[in-house]
Amino acid sequence: MSNVAVIGAGYVGLTTAACFASIGHRVTCADIDEDKIAGLKEGVVPIVEAGLAELVRAGLETGRLSFVLGAAAAVTDCEFAYLCVPTPQAADGSADLSYIRSAAAEIGPLLPAEAIVVNKSTVPVGSTRVVEEVLGRDDVRVVSNPEFLREGSAVHDFLNPDRVVIGADDYAAAFRVAGLFDSLRPQLLITDPASAETIKYASNAFLAAKVSFVNAIANVCEAVGADVRDVLMGMSYDKRIGSEFMKPGPGFGGSCFPKDTAALIRIAEDAGYDFGLLKGVTQVNVEQFERVVAKVEIAAGGSVEGVTVAAWGLAFKARTDDLRLSPALEVIGRLLARGARVQAFDPAVGARPGDPALDGIEVCADAYGACDGAAVLVVLTEWEDFRRVDLTKVAGLMVRPLRVVDARNLLDPAELRKHGFQYTGIGR
Ligand SMILES: NC(=O)c1ccc[n+]([C@@H]2O[C@H](COP(=O)([O-])OP(=O)(O)OC[C@H]3O[C@@H](n4cnc5c(N)ncnc54)[C@H](O)[C@@H]3O)[C@@H](O)[C@H]2O)c1
Repeated sequence: MSNVAVIGAGYVGLTTAACFASIGHRVTCADIDEDKIAGLKEGVVPIVEAGLAELVRAGLETGRLSFVLGAAAAVTDCEFAYLCVPTPQAADGSADLSYIRSAAAEIGPLLPAEAIVVNKSTVPVGSTRVVEEVLGRDDVRVVSNPEFLREGSAVHDFLNPDRVVIGADDYAAAFRVAGLFDSLRPQLLITDPASAETIKYASNAFLAAKVSFVNAIANVCEAVGADVRDVLMGMSYDKRIGSEFMKPGPGFGGSCFPKDTAALIRIAEDAGYDFGLLKGVTQVNVEQFERVVAKVEIAAGGSVEGVTVAAWGLAFKARTDDLRLSPALEVIGRLLARGARVQAFDPAVGARPGDPALDGIEVCADAYGACDGAAVLVVLTEWEDFRRVDLTKVAGLMVRPLRVVDARNLLDPAELRKHGFQYTGIGR
């Protein structure tokens, strides 16, 4: 059992803290957000993430997990200090390291001798050195341990990792960090810090490229009259291609892919390489938002000006309430800008008065409320719940002709047509 401090109680930090506690470590998790810490001390988890609330409550009960305000209060007797603070996109596309710097500056003088600072935030190549410099401690090692969890299955992914990557110049420090994961028996890769940092960006950029490639193929299918589902299935039987991430949609979003692709383009540029391929990936993505908007406009008869649109889905993906750079909001924002009235429903996102992300959107209590008086229904997030909605009831609520744009290819077109809907999907 080790003493672990986790700095930052967001999607990554809270998951890391709760999961480490669940496998036997003693964890102190810190954040600068007073309300968040006050709630967490009572077992109130501020995000939607399967299994997380249960682990937090179990950790509090066993006494292995505690929450404190401010990084300084977490590190005084830690062996490991995990940095899980934001690394948002700066104006020039690069990753903004100010949160990392300020957390490192705060804990530097307080860390016990021989402690290890672990960078779990997604940070550009060279950040391990930056943290070392800010800490200013010869007796403290800095190790990179990028996180690969997926929101929506974060707890599962942390406890069943495809791999644990550790980047360190000091092998002893790397093995000490690896020891934290022993009971999970992960596939372990120990490498140098620059490679570990690059693995994280390269992985996200590859996945973003897969999404854009699949969306581009869907667009080709629409142009040539092919069915993208069959095309992708036919491709996925090839083991080199595989079946994961092979669904067209409204484009990628969330707190990671957009900023990490931008950061990798920037990292490459600074190093003298023009990553044209990745620039294309980003461009296809922005075009995809527009394509979905165009489908809604066509369904509405050419323009959405003054038209009521029902939107199913607000979160950037199913099984999370995270709205950061959600493709659903990208599409809805464009519809609002063109004069539409948008009534939306998301199973994980209630009305949040004052939240600028939901400005101008009427957030409804259920899927039916969103459809009341709507001329077009657009499906933007792939919640399974939407498959179980009573279509007869939906048809009775919407104005005729009934039209649905399914940007996730989630619903059954035959079933919709039976209920009198005109159906538009992606790539079919
Ligand atoms: N969200 C994901 O799916 C995911 C997956 C892998 C990697 N990452 C990376 O992990 C990092 C964190 O992402 P996130 O989604 O958890 O962010 P988040 O915004 O959900 O959480 C970050 C938390 O850090 C806190 N914080 C900021 N400065 C602090 C300080 N000095 N001391 C204590 N707390 C502080 C914030 O209040 C916030 O609660 C980012 O670099 C991100 O790119 C995210």
